[in-house]
Amino acid sequence: MPMELTRSRVQKIWIPIDHRPSLPRPPVPQLTNSPTVIVMVGLPARGKTYMSKKLTRYLNWIGVPTKVFNVGDYRRTAVKDFSFHFFRADNEEAMKVRKQCALAALSDIQLYLKDEGGQIAVFDATNTTKERRTMVLDFAKENDFKVFFVESVCDDPSVVASNIMEVKLSSPDYKDCSSAEAMEDFMKRIDCYQATYQPLDPDNDDRHLSLIKVLDVGQRFVVNRVQDHIQSRIVYYLMNIHVQPRSIYICQHGESEYNIQGRIGGDSGLSVRGKKFSIALRGFLEDQNLKDLKIWTSQLKSTIQTAEALNLPYEQWKALNELDAGVCEEMTYDDIKATYPEEYALRSQDKYYYRYPTGESYQDLVQRLEPVIMELERQENVLVICHQGVMRCLLAYFLDKSADEMPYLKCPLHTVLKLTPVAYGCRVESIFLNVEAINTHRERSEEAKKGPNPLMRRNSVTPLASPEPTKKPRINSFEEHMASTSAALPSCLPREVPTQNLNNSQNQY
Ligand code: SIN
Repeated sequence: MPMELTRSRVQKIWIPIDHRPSLPRPPVPQLTNSPTVIVMVGLPARGKTYMSKKLTRYLNWIGVPTKVFNVGDYRRTAVKDFSFHFFRADNEEAMKVRKQCALAALSDIQLYLKDEGGQIAVFDATNTTKERRTMVLDFAKENDFKVFFVESVCDDPSVVASNIMEVKLSSPDYKDCSSAEAMEDFMKRIDCYQATYQPLDPDNDDRHLSLIKVLDVGQRFVVNRVQDHIQSRIVYYLMNIHVQPRSIYICQHGESEYNIQGRIGGDSGLSVRGKKFSIALRGFLEDQNLKDLKIWTSQLKSTIQTAEALNLPYEQWKALNELDAGVCEEMTYDDIKATYPEEYALRSQDKYYYRYPTGESYQDLVQRLEPVIMELERQENVLVICHQGVMRCLLAYFLDKSADEMPYLKCPLHTVLKLTPVAYGCRVESIFLNVEAINTHRERSEEAKKGPNPLMRRNSVTPLASPEPTKKPRINSFEEHMASTSAALPSCLPREVPTQNLNNSQNQY
């Protein structure tokens, strides 16, 4: 007998009437039908961690709870002293420790995917031997997890050197070394891996595996046996990202007539101060002296008027239109409170999931903005002139903010945020263009501050933005062993277990 349906009050979706409210809310849309382990493969300094973190940020943003498990972090927690000798294939004691670190990471992956609501785990390690990959495949089979391999192959010495300069020299592994010592040691470490490296071979032994090989930093790709929707999105994403230096500028339109009246939505034009801002924006762009800047607006009047003042070509995207407030369009918050008191209260309880009657939620907006993010990944310098809700969603992607934080990110009028990719994250500069404007930001309500059940939040289950210490692998003997061999180590190598720092955004906004 089919159950009777009712519409949920927050999301306005149809659910069975006896739906148990205590159950965690299913992530919508459900993109994976069994948990997946993404297994990175490749020599050191091939961008595996970069891809792992970036892909994880994207997957969390689209609503798939994902987390990186970096075996190097487990190793750093387990081992105090090391050098390239630690990575030699004939260093039996170290090999045991390395295997234990990998097993500890896999055991945490199991916990994450089975008990903690995770859908995708990224196993960020070199995995350069068939033996190691077979171990991971056996683990996945026992647990009924899908496996997707992502291998990065790059033999261009200048790319490898710049990767080492950018991220490896500042690694906790080399915190007390000079750059020259660190570079020399790291190159020897790569040689250790090179000696036993068995690349994925989709034409022969690995033809049954699901994988993407990323060759020469995205110049070419080999894709094999994509099993499902999420794997095809992962492939699509990896085929669109690049590492060219560039900046993305995001701002709201100039202050609008409706901003002044405190009305949400609508399609009003710029206020006098809004027009001043658009002139100031033109001066700002001239000072930035950018070559080949793309400018994108929404299809609403305020952003188009702002772009018109720049005297530069621009493109209109309907996807950049402001969150649709449905029946509440063009109302003030006081009007909404008086006319739809229940809706008003529901929204402040759960701003990310809350969908306006006949309108949208932040969650809807994220889905609508996905093609914009993909195209931003493909482009170089871009200025996006948009609206408060849209700007929050875009910013949450670049700064790895959880769904819970997203609707409260501060995106003031007449302020340009300049995002520049650095190492594993984004540097953010906030530039106020000196034209006063109304403050449209509303703080989280007292009710919302009490916080939701964390399990009911998609992508705040394990937000990457929250530092979470790696669990110490269960390894006992190695430090004693290293103490006895430490005479062979360069004195610059660390003597202390470094503090874990899993944040991937620098200078977070
Ligand atoms: C590391 O210990 O830094 C990397 C571990 C691995 O080889 O996967």
